[in-house]
Amino acid sequence: MKHFQSLLSLILSVSMLLTACDSESPVAVESIPVFSTSEFSGGETTVFDASSHAFSIPAPNLSTAAFEKHLEGDVEFEAVFVTAPAVVNPGLGPIYNNVSCINCHSRDGRGRPPGANEGLVSLLFRLSLPKSEDSGVGTPPTPVPGFGRQLNNRAIVNADPEGKVKIDYTEQTLTTADGTRVHLRYPNYTVTETYQPLPENVEVSPRVAPAVFGLGLLEAIPEEIIIAYADEVDIDGDDISGKPNYVWDVVNQRYTLGRFGWKANQPTLIQQVAAAYHDDMGITTSLFSIENSAGQPQLTGHSEAPEVSDEILDVVTFYVQTLAVPARRNVDDPQVKHGEQLFAKAQCASCHIPTFRTGVLNGVPSVSNQTIHPYTDLLLHDMGPELADNRPDFHASGSEWRTPPLWGIGLVRRVNGHTNFLHDGRARDLMEAILWHGGEAERSRQIVEQMSKTERDALIAFLESL
Ligand code: HEC
Ligand code: HEC
Repeated sequence: MKHFQSLLSLILSVSMLLTACDSESPVAVESIPVFSTSEFSGGETTVFDASSHAFSIPAPNLSTAAFEKHLEGDVEFEAVFVTAPAVVNPGLGPIYNNVSCINCHSRDGRGRPPGANEGLVSLLFRLSLPKSEDSGVGTPPTPVPGFGRQLNNRAIVNADPEGKVKIDYTEQTLTTADGTRVHLRYPNYTVTETYQPLPENVEVSPRVAPAVFGLGLLEAIPEEIIIAYADEVDIDGDDISGKPNYVWDVVNQRYTLGRFGWKANQPTLIQQVAAAYHDDMGITTSLFSIENSAGQPQLTGHSEAPEVSDEILDVVTFYVQTLAVPARRNVDDPQVKHGEQLFAKAQCASCHIPTFRTGVLNGVPSVSNQTIHPYTDLLLHDMGPELADNRPDFHASGSEWRTPPLWGIGLVRRVNGHTNFLHDGRARDLMEAILWHGGEAERSRQIVEQMSKTERDALIAFLESL
């Protein structure tokens, strides 16, 4: 049965590819496989483990050498950095957000906004100045003098944090067609205690840390397949467009398809990892060799050599490329099956695309040529004014976000002990996350609002099975 299903998805993806190649028009919506009864969300990288460690397991199809490399990467992912000079893991800061990868991506899972009396841990804020008229479409965000492109809320001894952020929530109530009242909280952010004045017109974008499993598979999806789903001017008239982001690739020195981050602003995992060291921890690598605090009065003692070596960068990249995807659960449960039909009916699957076939990712055979069920198209969608951060990022507008993958989403509670969703963690459960959908997903939200309680419960049961 499993092999039959993989074969079916393979045929579907190949036929999609052909459609994409031999015609100018985008892939017809009818050809998108909407259902996947497979438990193998990550193809051969799938693990059958629904415990609190579900996101932290190496792909089971790694060779012995690859498994060892993964374990080396794991050690580095957990490494706690300290101020230089030190024998072990020096180079932190001078300004930073956190001291290790795992502190934000707790159990390789997702972060959340702070509770009432907590400081920021796994939520960070990107900053920029509005683009000038002549800076052009598709350019990187303009850094804020003295702050750069991210607010670093912590600093080593003898340096000052760039600032802090105060979060207030405004409660809103929404009533569904059957009279159920749902409370939604809308976040307001105030940057406070800045070490020097922040310009009035600064753009602030909140981002929680996403889970880091299954990412090598997403990196291995051929670019032309992702582009085949794009429908920027909505030729098929379903109000859902889908637009690729094109971002700067520092290794190859050219613009290329963005895949990672909430606005698809990073092209590859190696660059995403190097950017994390640099922007989030103040640690230089060969990709980003100038301290994130360059140009600030408090930068002292900058060393020329990268603080993290290419070997470490390589093993950490390999680690996030080769974390297994947890298997789906309860796929034959009638309620889950009903929910899956509603997921298709509410057009969720137009953006959260269930099935892809990966191509070849050089050096990572375990994620190559796999049939996967990530429930994303890796494209940008306008999600309406309420989700907007009003901070453009390359081709992403202030209201566009990349469709996040939904695989493993039903295990977030078990792994991370919370159910905060969306880019800023404002949703407190899956239904709130759905009810924040607007813009291109307006019709989807309306369909869910019109559903009976039984139907909404089934839709959630389906998401919980992923
Ligand atoms: C301060 C918290 C923080 C730290 C520390 C941190 N990250 Fe992240 N990470 C984030 C956030 C927030 C995002 C989303 C960024 C965005 O959307 O622009 C992210 C995104 C990612 C992604 C892309 C995930 C996706 O689905 O697109 C990867 C991979 C990643 N981080 C790996 C790492 C590694 C490796 C380290 C350590 C070197 C690290 N992170 C350190 C917060 C953090
Ligand atoms: C137009 C494309 C589109 C459609 C249609 C759509 N989504 Fe989404 N979805 C997104 C984007 C983009 C986000 C991220 C928004 C954000 O974080 O601000 C998202 C976020 C989510 C999240 C939270 C994921 C996370 O990692 O935090 C869930 C759950 C979700 N969608 C489920 C659904 C369901 C169920 C439907 C159908 C009722 C649906 N979506 C329809 C694009 C879409």
